[in-house]
Amino acid sequence: MTRKDPLVDLLIHDLTGPLSIVLTSVNNLLTKQDKCGPYTEYQVDTLKRAQRNAEKAKALLLEIIEVYRSEEGLFRSEKFMVADILREALFDALDIVNPDISEELSRAGNDSFRQVLSRNGITTELSGRYTAEPFSHDSKKIRQILRNLISNALKYRKTMMKLTLSGDTDLVISVEDDGDGIPKEKQNYIFKRFFNTQSKKETPDGLGFGLSCVKHIVEKMKGDISLESGEGTGSCFTVRIPPL
Ligand SMILES: Nc1ncnc2c1ncn2[C@@H]1O[C@H](COP(=O)(O)OP(=O)(O)OP(=O)(O)O)[C@@H](O)[C@H]1O
Ligand SMILES: [Mg+2]
Repeated sequence: MTRKDPLVDLLIHDLTGPLSIVLTSVNNLLTKQDKCGPYTEYQVDTLKRAQRNAEKAKALLLEIIEVYRSEEGLFRSEKFMVADILREALFDALDIVNPDISEELSRAGNDSFRQVLSRNGITTELSGRYTAEPFSHDSKKIRQILRNLISNALKYRKTMMKLTLSGDTDLVISVEDDGDGIPKEKQNYIFKRFFNTQSKKETPDGLGFGLSCVKHIVEKMKGDISLESGEGTGSCFTVRIPPL
C-alpha cells in the first residue's frame, strides 16, 4: 500500500458509507426487538455477530489509516499490559477465523477461559519483564501485528497454536502452529504483498496481504520478524519490538 495511490484513498473513503449503513441497519434490528421481534436466540447471536464484524470492518478501515501513519514513522507512545493486547488480538482473530471458539470464550468466565483455550489447542506462555510491567509503544499497532500472525496460525494449524510472550528490554512474541509449514524456498516470498502459497487453489484462504503489512510495521518500529519453519514441521513466527 502506498500513500501515493489516490485510488486507495478514494476506496477507503467510499467504503465507510455502505459500512455505516450496514451497522445502522443491524443496530436498528437489535434495538427494535419490540417492533421486529421477538427473535430466537440464534437470530440474536447472528445479528450480534454481524454487528461485531461490521464494527471490526470499520475499525480495519481506520487501521489502514494507521498503517499510513506507520509508513510515515508516526507511532503513539502509551503504556499498556501486553497480556491484555494479546488477549484482544486473540479474540479479534478467533472472531474471524473460528467464531465458534470466540463465542464459547465470551460465555466462559475468567476461570474457565484458559480451559476453553486449551480444549481448542491454544496455549499461552508468559514470562519476562512485561508480564508484570507495562510495555511502552503503540498498542493498536502491536494488536494489528498479533492479530495477523494469530489469524494465520489459526488458519493454517492442524490442531495447536502456542503464543509465547517474553523479553526484558525488547518485547518478544512468538506465534507457533503445527500446520504444513512453509518450505524454505518460499520463506523469502511470504512477506511480499499478495503472495499466497496456495495461489493455485481456486479460492485461496486469504489475500496474501497480512504478512507484508506486519513486516512493514515491525521494521518501522526498528524491530524484526523471523520465521522458523520447514515443510511438514509447522511454523513459528517471532517478532521483537524495542520499546518506544
Ligand atoms: N502460519 C502459517 N502456516 C503456513 N503458511 C503460512 C502461515 N502464515 C502465512 N503463511 C503463508 O504465507 C502466505 C502469506 O500470508 P499473509 O498473512 O500475508 O496472507 P493470507 O493469510 O493468505 O491473507 P491475508 O491477507 O488475509 O492475511 C499465506 O497465504 C500462506 O500461504
Ligand atoms: Mg494472513
